[in-house]
Amino acid sequence: MDIKKAEFTLSSPTVQMCPNDNKPEYAFIGRSNVGKSSLINMLCNRKGLAKTSATPGKTLLINHFIINNEWYIVDLPGYGFAKHSKTVVKKLDQMIRTYVLQRRQLVNLFVLIDIRHEPQKVDREFIDWLGESSIPFTIIFTKADKLTGGKAKANVDAYMNSLKDRWEELPPYYISSAEKKIGREEILNYIEQINNELKETSSQQE
Ligand code: GTP
Ligand code: MG
Repeated sequence: MDIKKAEFTLSSPTVQMCPNDNKPEYAFIGRSNVGKSSLINMLCNRKGLAKTSATPGKTLLINHFIINNEWYIVDLPGYGFAKHSKTVVKKLDQMIRTYVLQRRQLVNLFVLIDIRHEPQKVDREFIDWLGESSIPFTIIFTKADKLTGGKAKANVDAYMNSLKDRWEELPPYYISSAEKKIGREEILNYIEQINNELKETSSQQE
C-alpha cells in the first residue's frame, strides 16, 4: 500500500473525545520507549509526524493520524512506565484500557515488543488481558537493527514459544526496525488487506 498522505488529526485525553467519523483505525501500543512513535513515522515515511524521544513516557495522549483520508493510525501512551508518579501510571492505564475496550472503530491493535529483551511480565499481562477481552491484535517486534539476524530470529521464536502455555492459537507477528525501515511493506500490506476486507463486508451489507 502506498501512503500518499499522512496528517496529524487530534490528541485526545479520553476515548469520548476521539474523532467520530467511523473510519477504521489501527492503534500501536507497548511499553514506554519500545518504539511506537518511531515505527509510525517509519510506516508513514514522515520523520516528525509522531513525536519520539529517548526519554520514556513521551506520549501521554491518544494521538490520531489520518492516512490517505481513509483510515487512522493511533499512537498510544506506553504502559508500565515506573518513573511516572503512581497517579499518572494509573490514569494512563485506565485511558489505554478504556480506549481498547470501548473504541468501536479499532480494527486491530499492534502490540510492540522490543526484540532484544526476554519476555517481560507487563507485556504478558497485557497480552493475556487482550485475549480475555477478545481484542484482535498483532505483535510487532521492534528495533531489529540492534541484533544480528540469527539472534533476532532466535528471540522471536523464544517469545512466540513462551505464549504457548496459555495461547492455543498464536497471534500473527512482524519484525521491524524504524532505523533500517524493516517490516514496512509487510505491515502496510497487512493493514491494506484488512481495510479491503472491511470494504467488502460493508458493501455486502448495503
Ligand atoms: P513513549 O511514547 O515514551 O511510550 O515511547 P515510544 O514507544 O513511542 O518510543 P519512541 O518511538 O519515542 O522511541 C524510543 C527510543 O527508541 C528513541 O530513542 C528512538 O530513537 C529509539 N528507537 C525506536 N525505534 C528504533 C529502532 O527501530 N531502532 C533503533 N536502533 N532505535 C529505535
Ligand atoms: Mg511515543
